[in-house]
Amino acid sequence: MKIFQSGAELQKYALELKRSGRTIGFVPTMGFLHDGHMSLIDIARKKADVVIVSIFVNPTQFAPNEDFDRYPRDFDGDVAKCAAHGADVIYAPEAAEMYRPDASTWVEETVLSKPLCGISRPTFYRGVTTVVAKLFLLAQPDFAVFGLKDAQQCFVIQRMVRDMNFPVEIIPAPLVRDADGLALSSRNRYLSADERSRALSIHRSLLAAKARIAADRRTIAAAVEEAKVAITAAGGRVDYVEVLDCDTLQTPTDASRRVILAAAAFFGTTRLIDNEIFNL
Ligand code: PAJ
Repeated sequence: MKIFQSGAELQKYALELKRSGRTIGFVPTMGFLHDGHMSLIDIARKKADVVIVSIFVNPTQFAPNEDFDRYPRDFDGDVAKCAAHGADVIYAPEAAEMYRPDASTWVEETVLSKPLCGISRPTFYRGVTTVVAKLFLLAQPDFAVFGLKDAQQCFVIQRMVRDMNFPVEIIPAPLVRDADGLALSSRNRYLSADERSRALSIHRSLLAAKARIAADRRTIAAAVEEAKVAITAAGGRVDYVEVLDCDTLQTPTDASRRVILAAAAFFGTTRLIDNEIFNL
């Protein structure tokens, strides 16, 4: 397995691979890898000649009051997991390598990035789209795999790729959960045992709301309210619970088919997100 820290060297290598006719599958991550990340690498491994994984805790997607400084890191563990799952290349730049001090260019999606996490994290998606655009230009992938754990992120990236004509296919991958239903996340590491068991209320209440809504779409408002009450009763502080049309991320209309039921809530100081995607 090759490890690059230099973007210029990665790009040169990737362009050579492309010239020799090999396909590149790409999995961007912020490291502290878990089975959710590994499922994306497995999907890429099945489809591509060469699998590139990036590990970069991207400062531009964290607000000043967020957890950039304490975001969990385990580079050696990550390298071992990538090797075990057949990745060929790891790109792990320093922040100073990725962003020049006088960098003044952003890539911004302006519609799908506004609701849900965009409300409480108004600069988050601008940081994500900017770094993913840069990573695509460095890694030159034919396709990239994004997890539906972060469904809004996946939709925003699909829109960016469409609007900016990136020659990259975006492959959405299923959300991976722990056996008890908690969505896997690097941030689960912050939870105490008590917070973790209370946090199971997120997925439980999403499942209850989904069952109600799928049976009768007129119950959306009541089901959402019920989920908020259940998460609050378990000790969570709800950021949002919402049902939106997957294509527009707007309130569903009579024509809407595929919807996302999404939730974000704090347990202690840890902000967790989860979702269910289904047809009305
Ligand atoms: P990170 O949170 O490390 O996630 C990297 C990828 O793993 C994302 O596509 C995310 O959706 C996926 N992932 C995380 N947990 C998952 C789970 N439980 N099931 C399935 N997929 C899961 O998302 C980011 O990093 C960053 O914003 C990034 C795209 C790398 C840009 O900095």
